[in-house]
Amino acid sequence: MVLKANADRSPTCGLADVIVGIQWGDEGKGRVVDYHADSYDLIARFGGGDNAGHTIVCGKRKVALRIVPSGVLQNRPLLFIGGGTVVSLATLVSEFEMLANLGIDIERIRVSDRAHIVLPYHAAQERATEKRRGAHAIGTTGRGIGPAYVDKAGRVGITFGDLHRPTALAEKIAQRYRLHGDDAGAGVESPPVEAVIEETLTLGRRVLPHVVDGVRFIQEMLQRDCRVLIEGAQGTMLDVGYGTYPFVTSSHTIAGAACTGLGIGPRSIGSVVGVAKAYCTRVGAGPFPSELHGATAEWLRERGAEFGTVTGRPRRCGWFDAVAARYATQVNGLTSVILTKLDVLSGLERVGVVVSYARDGAPISMQSLADEPLQTEVEWHEGWGELPRDARRLRDLPGNAGRYVEALQRALQVPIQAVSFGAERSEMALS
Ligand code: IMP
Ligand code: MG
Repeated sequence: MVLKANADRSPTCGLADVIVGIQWGDEGKGRVVDYHADSYDLIARFGGGDNAGHTIVCGKRKVALRIVPSGVLQNRPLLFIGGGTVVSLATLVSEFEMLANLGIDIERIRVSDRAHIVLPYHAAQERATEKRRGAHAIGTTGRGIGPAYVDKAGRVGITFGDLHRPTALAEKIAQRYRLHGDDAGAGVESPPVEAVIEETLTLGRRVLPHVVDGVRFIQEMLQRDCRVLIEGAQGTMLDVGYGTYPFVTSSHTIAGAACTGLGIGPRSIGSVVGVAKAYCTRVGAGPFPSELHGATAEWLRERGAEFGTVTGRPRRCGWFDAVAARYATQVNGLTSVILTKLDVLSGLERVGVVVSYARDGAPISMQSLADEPLQTEVEWHEGWGELPRDARRLRDLPGNAGRYVEALQRALQVPIQAVSFGAERSEMALS
């Protein structure tokens, strides 16, 4: 039997394009989504919560988003927070207020009734667990994301759909306390159950007008042939199943999760675009084979403003990791890659790319990457000076910068469709 890829899809049914990070998060997905958002009718998030931090710059406007999809600065698209996400009501409401104060129409924002609510006890529980882990802490963003997903899998989670039934919702929270207590301890105070119920009901009333039947909503958008862009959070190497486990986030971040996180089938997916920085960063603990220390790391951190959007933590910095990127190409099934922040490397005498790892002389794969020292093989490329700000095509990039991009494309084995070299929307060169 021959599988006809997408051949018998109903011609009246729209396709959704997916954008995912292929490193450890902070690849610049927000900027890429913002750039393309005007061509789409809907931007949807499928996973994670306010552990994400997307910074978008447009002229004098600089907006840091945590939950609302990055298309919000463009007027055209509706914005959808899908069923696979876990969302703090307090953060969502404060983001609504921040956006409304900027004069942005927030009526366009919808939240799936299947999305789970991160409650104050989740953050307390996470702080307590991280404290108990001590030197082995994961270095989470502290937003309660992991405990919220634990509750979802443990079938004691609270959903946005529950906001429709306040009495039952209050009883569910009370029952969760009866089953698990507040799960804090280790000197961490968790808020009392009455306060949690009260806050949830109050904020819930504010959010309820945005809550929709998430499956019906997205299916109708697709059936009406609307253009949908699905925005990933975090990065491939932080995926709970395929990242550097256990130093990962608690959700699937790879492209396949776009389907489970939105309630759509794989045949609804069009292109899958991976976003990668021209170098690598990581926040928090865990394996980072291409990590640098010293002057070059400092250069990347300063020039790249590599400090966490959510936590303000300095990010660990290193060379582009071609092993991890090739792995990410496979597990996401990428159709192309967009490279960001090429300008950060400008001015370095030479630029490295990690092309293989080994431990005790034996090559190792992504799967056996543990938080232990390893040897890396670095391929060197000649550096380049400042990039022309008016470059619009990849061929406009000066010699060595162009050759560097070509080398990354060979390593990735998929086309690089665009390269960004500045925070402004216009600073993007297309293939
Ligand atoms: P959590 O998602 O808060 O549980 O954190 C787990 C790990 O994922 C930590 O190493 C975090 O620093 C990292 N992480 C979570 N979200 C992001 C993100 O949006 N960008 C970069 N790292 C993230
Ligand atoms: Mg970020």
